Amino acid sequence: MQVCGFMKELAVKVCTNEQIAPGIYELDLALPEEIDFRCGQFLNLSVGDGAHLLRRPFAVMSYDRVSRTVCVCYQVKGEGTRLLSRVKEGDALACVLPLGNGFRIAEEQKRVALIGGGVGVFPLLSVLQEYHESDKHFRSYMGFRSAKFVSTFGKYDHRSDAAFIMTDDGSFGEKGTAVSKFFEDFEEARPDLILSCGPTPMLRALKAGLAERKIETPCFVSLEERMGCGIGACLVCVCKKSGSEENARVCKDGPVFDINEVEI
Ligand SMILES: Cc1cc2nc3c(=O)[nH]c(=O)nc-3n(C[C@H](O)[C@H](O)[C@H](O)COP(=O)(O)OP(=O)(O)OC[C@H]3O[C@@H](n4cnc5c(N)ncnc54)[C@H](O)[C@@H]3O)c2cc1C
Ligand code: FES
Repeated sequence: MQVCGFMKELAVKVCTNEQIAPGIYELDLALPEEIDFRCGQFLNLSVGDGAHLLRRPFAVMSYDRVSRTVCVCYQVKGEGTRLLSRVKEGDALACVLPLGNGFRIAEEQKRVALIGGGVGVFPLLSVLQEYHESDKHFRSYMGFRSAKFVSTFGKYDHRSDAAFIMTDDGSFGEKGTAVSKFFEDFEEARPDLILSCGPTPMLRALKAGLAERKIETPCFVSLEERMGCGIGACLVCVCKKSGSEENARVCKDGPVFDINEVEI
């Protein structure tokens, strides 16, 4: 897959940084210049403290070309994201973007299934944003731990022809997983393309389910690996290519891969 646009290091300004669900923040950043983004690409952001030299990768959830603002949503996991949750309006952060290959939908692929889990929902929302006014038809299958986290998808669900919200505890939508709902709905949906992002067990279940049912629909997944440089130089983020001794760099060769191309 081709990388779109040229990677740049920019000083971005924090517009807002608000908690939208327990431990989940929505961060709006103003860019000093227009950037060419593709859905599924990501940025590498300093977390507002010089002592933390490594940046943290986050999917670009949406981009507004007119106001030149990008929106990312992140979950507080460790020290880096905890520091990020404290940045305030007007703070300047160093940011490298756009990174990675991103999702692509071919002209003839009209029906697209989006399968997301947890923070993996965010890069899929960028697909709904980019193809909002296209001739594509989306069916979304989104899995969350509980009702408290569903609001992270709320802004965009109307952009799908059908949206199935699944929760682990049944406190919102149906009880179950996004992957099980996708297979239940498969005959009705008959997608031309499947795009997915979520925790590794979810992607494994998707890969196994496709193989078991001998479904050959093209399926691309966005992987999340720990990263160092984010630009292909340090090899921290490698994953194994299927049936080969070769590795792929998630930051540079991905993060989007054909599900059959990589070991999950
Ligand atoms: C391409 C890409 C896009 C991402 N997009 C988002 C996003 O949109 N929203 C979001 O909330 N998170 C996203 N992540 C994950 C996010 O980068 C990590 O959660 C974050 O870097 C953790 O930093 P930390 O310093 O808080 O945690 P650390 O102290 O570094 O780690 C805390 C915990 O998080 C785990 N962790 C660290 N880095 C990653 C990682 N890259 N992937 C999975 N687990 C990790 C660690 O194993 C550890 O258990 C993305 C990751 C990648 C590679
Ligand atoms: S993070 Fe350095 S090569 Fe991918």
